[in-house]
Amino acid sequence: MKTLDVVLGLQWGDEGKGKIVDVLAERYPVVARFQGGPNAGHSIHFGNTSFVLHSVPSGVFRDGSINIIGNGVVLDPTIFREECQAIEALGVPVRERVKIARRAHLIVPTHKLLDAADEAALGKSKIGSTLKGIGPAYSDKTGRNGLRVGDLLEADFREKFETLKRKHAARLAQYDFKAPFDPEAAEKQWLADAEYLKTFEIIDAEYETNALLAADKAILAEGAQGSMLDVDFGSYPFVTSSSTACAGACTGLGVAPGHIGKVYGVFKAYCTRVGSGPFPTELGDDTGERMRQRGREFGATTGRPRRTGWLDIPALKFAVMISGVTDLIMMKADVLDGFDTVKVCCEYRVNGIRTDRVPYDVYAEIEPVYKEFKGWSGDLGSCRSEAELPAEFKAYIAYIEQEVGVPIRILSLGPDRDQTLIRC
Ligand code: IMO
Ligand code: MG
Repeated sequence: MKTLDVVLGLQWGDEGKGKIVDVLAERYPVVARFQGGPNAGHSIHFGNTSFVLHSVPSGVFRDGSINIIGNGVVLDPTIFREECQAIEALGVPVRERVKIARRAHLIVPTHKLLDAADEAALGKSKIGSTLKGIGPAYSDKTGRNGLRVGDLLEADFREKFETLKRKHAARLAQYDFKAPFDPEAAEKQWLADAEYLKTFEIIDAEYETNALLAADKAILAEGAQGSMLDVDFGSYPFVTSSSTACAGACTGLGVAPGHIGKVYGVFKAYCTRVGSGPFPTELGDDTGERMRQRGREFGATTGRPRRTGWLDIPALKFAVMISGVTDLIMMKADVLDGFDTVKVCCEYRVNGIRTDRVPYDVYAEIEPVYKEFKGWSGDLGSCRSEAELPAEFKAYIAYIEQEVGVPIRILSLGPDRDQTLIRC
């Protein structure tokens, strides 16, 4: 019996999960997404090309891989079709490699309208949503109004679709709001794309995942977003609408907790956040701008510039705690090459009191308490072994391991597959 190993983002998303899943997929015949939807943007680079995945698991570029879109995911048929056609254009047999859970919920065009209307109504306190319809689709799921992939195969699908549309229209009528796209054209396209989706293998994913594990096929669960955006543990209400922590992999795939093996926690050597909400170590200065430019920190889904700041250890320890992370993976350390000083937030001062706990109050005044490290010179991206790493960088990562209490097993030192140091 093999285990379900999980890759999670430990920060506010965009940690580099796509690259790591693509690298690890060599060891995992099966990759599965378990939550989130096309709000995710998982970038993969090979040679001179790069590709951004939104709904399809990042194992898809590996020969012979099985990629499951689990029941915990919300799927937009239009984005899915566009993505699959772009993958197919690279010569990848996407239809052979991707399977979709019957129980996964569908994002319909009116979910996107509701998302935009909700955000517009919030004004200054908006969440900064990607406007992909995620919140409204999950609301319909837990409110027991949702449409599922399995419904597409039923004779009364159109009726169910119209019923949901009427409910959404009644809500939309309460807003004074202009649709950001033509709803009729979007619906027509959506219905055509739903037919396209039906040509993929639609499965009882919970049976399939458990059968694969029993047949000694290891599964890698690919998290989307990050722990600090978790609907329960993130900076609510500035969060996404799903469980981004490890437990979400169990409910999002129908696999019991006892089958979980490794929990890989992915974090960047610094922090970014896109959208609103607290970000204690945020830098609004030239150093922050330098991180943004060097790290190309612009949204893969929305193109928005990401907020940037130093590494936040209390937040990292919190994320490790709620998910039981066994292996840390540090991304993009090369972005900090050439900085004179590298800072790490080791504690907060919340309303004047020192603490290492993430506060409940998202409007609390949080002042980071920093530890400073001497920066390193040279180019981390060209290091291919532990021995080549600069001493200052080694001191920096040793401190993080000691504070968090989990070893950094993988160091990613650049976007390419071969710029990855496995330190087992
Ligand atoms: P990946 O998987 C970074 C953020 C949005 C917003 C909040 C809610 O690429 O790491 P939503 O669209 O879910 O209603 O937005 O969550 N957000 C992300 N930030 N990376 C992501 O995904 C994100 N998905 C959502 O910016 O603040
Ligand atoms: Mg992203």
